[in-house]
Amino acid sequence: MYGKNIETLKKENMNLADKIYIFDTTLRDGEQTPGVALTVDEKIQIAQKLDSLGVDKIEAGFPAASNGEFEAASEIKSLDLDSTIVGLARSIKSDIDTVLDADLEYIHTFIGTSPLHRDYKLKMSKETIISTAVDAVEYAKDHGLAVEFSAEDATRTEREFLFDIFDAVIDAGADFIDIPDTVGVLTPIITKELITDIKSYFKAPVSVHFHNDFGLATANTLTAIECGANQTHVTVNGMGERTGNTSLEEIVVALYAAYGIDLNIDTSQLYSLSEFVGRLTGVKMPVNKPIVGDNAFAHESGIHVHGILNNSSTYEPISPELVGHSRKIVLGKHTGANALKSKLNDYHIDLDDDQFEKVYSQIKALGDRGKCVTDDDLKAIALTELGSARETPIKLKGLGLLSGAIVSPTATVKLEIDGVEKETSKTGVGPVDAAINAIRELIEGTMNIELEEYNLEAINGGTDALADVFVISSDDKGNKSTGRAINDDIVMASILAVLDSINKLLLIQRSNK
Ligand code: KIV
Ligand code: ZN
Repeated sequence: MYGKNIETLKKENMNLADKIYIFDTTLRDGEQTPGVALTVDEKIQIAQKLDSLGVDKIEAGFPAASNGEFEAASEIKSLDLDSTIVGLARSIKSDIDTVLDADLEYIHTFIGTSPLHRDYKLKMSKETIISTAVDAVEYAKDHGLAVEFSAEDATRTEREFLFDIFDAVIDAGADFIDIPDTVGVLTPIITKELITDIKSYFKAPVSVHFHNDFGLATANTLTAIECGANQTHVTVNGMGERTGNTSLEEIVVALYAAYGIDLNIDTSQLYSLSEFVGRLTGVKMPVNKPIVGDNAFAHESGIHVHGILNNSSTYEPISPELVGHSRKIVLGKHTGANALKSKLNDYHIDLDDDQFEKVYSQIKALGDRGKCVTDDDLKAIALTELGSARETPIKLKGLGLLSGAIVSPTATVKLEIDGVEKETSKTGVGPVDAAINAIRELIEGTMNIELEEYNLEAINGGTDALADVFVISSDDKGNKSTGRAINDDIVMASILAVLDSINKLLLIQRSNK
């Protein structure tokens, strides 16, 4: 918890409700995400996970919308979960009947209230809308349902009319009134004014249902709760119509981290739930999605990693374990030596100073070329360095390649051999072959080599993967040697691997003399 003590804040600025309910609508509004459709079985699995997480209410669907929606709602209800199972219904009897037929005990009924909805969608007068809502609430109450009433598009509804309809449905027995920001037009300041006004007038519990069109759903919801809202509708990963709804993981963690409010949610399940929902819906979270994105606890910069390694709170607002996520140290051009050392330690790879410097400069060079170095890349680079020739009498000083459909592949190679630079150009069946032919010619006076084995692998797959080349070369004296190199360019990796093996052969020959 940061900033002021919660009790001081409560006294000074806030009107926090004693209990804040989490109403999850992933299975209803979340499923309205364009392109998403869940099977009954998938909905059941998500409902079970939401229940185990500890949400108070699960909106299982819109039973009147289809047989599948009906089946999912009634099957989820039959699981007898701890969470209350809710069904959505328009304010019409036939919809309410399907909620009753699904054996649900809690209904979320709604009708549009804004001028736009009245005039262009419902074509109803204000009076008719109020009487329709009241009839629906009375009918649902008469049939034993707990009732939550939503004034759809409440935030673009005239304040007076909004109060009139809420007054009427509360008189009719509504247990909760809900304020949908249907097209996400609220800002925190407007939310504060609206919720403060509503809370000072109505005694009934107030819920909010905020959409994220301007990226403000979480901020607005937090403000609503600070002003006394008793409940918020949320979805896993912030899924929902257009840009979605208030995200479950964001609001739960923000309330906990900022104010220490514990909603009885098992936050350690948030990351796995997000992954699960992402997999079932096919909607992957962007890497920078708060709380559950791949980068939520990832660090690359040297300064940040240094801080994190000393005390993770320096650059993390919460620990990844709180939400079941994990910390990631990413290697790239911002990587500092401390981060690299810590990674190598994790993999028990011991490098001397010289080897470390070489690995470090390779990582930086790859970063400068726009590559992000994965843990597998690092292991391969470090292990290759460990196995590389200790001395390099032959060094690559330059490489030029010419390749294409209408020219013979040609390589120009410049080597420094025992301090003397030499250069030549050769052709071959491909650029790798041409370069190796050029090397053979350049070292002819020094040694003759045969390439016995050439093996190329891509680390981590993908077209931008690092190439890992392993070769075995032999000389005309019967010596054999391996060579290995890793590079983001296949030809370069091949040449460096061949030179590595040649250097080793040369060292063997010289030590035999
Ligand atoms: O956003 C909205 O207005 C809704 C209603 C059905 C409550 O989802
Ligand atoms: Zn909605």
